[in-house]
Amino acid sequence: MEQTVVLIKPDGMEKHVVGQIIDRFERAGLVIKNLKLVQLTQEILDVWYAHHKDKPFFPELSAQMMSTSVVAMVLEGDGAIQKVFDICGPTDPQEAVAGTIRKDYGVDKPHNVVHRSDSVEAAQKEIGWIFKPEELY
Ligand code: CMP
Repeated sequence: MEQTVVLIKPDGMEKHVVGQIIDRFERAGLVIKNLKLVQLTQEILDVWYAHHKDKPFFPELSAQMMSTSVVAMVLEGDGAIQKVFDICGPTDPQEAVAGTIRKDYGVDKPHNVVHRSDSVEAAQKEIGWIFKPEELY
């Protein structure tokens, strides 16, 4: 069983589509292992987005990610990483196909509604940054 992390970003929170987003994952057979509201900090984002830290959009990305609390969840299932990737669509909502979360609710790269883990290794790190082991049910 694979696990992956999804964050519903501030633009998704402000659109009030949390329930609709979770519904898509559950309908795909993914199981919620934990879910909570988190206020991200610059400290977490410096680690989370370490690969983007030198990019010109990093300050804007950080400010956006801290602008409201976010929903963080761990989803589990066979091929969870790929399943969640397919349900979310690519980073740029304008390149996403209809029926994906990013196409249906997103605007552009900074406002792409959700974060999802890129790989099993990334998922394990992200789980550790947000959840304690005893929080995974
Ligand atoms: P995500 O894939 O969740 O993680 C990195 C985020 O950086 C990405 O979503 C986008 O929200 C943002 N991002 C990536 N590329 C750009 C870009 N060129 N301009 C602005 N934001 C970006």
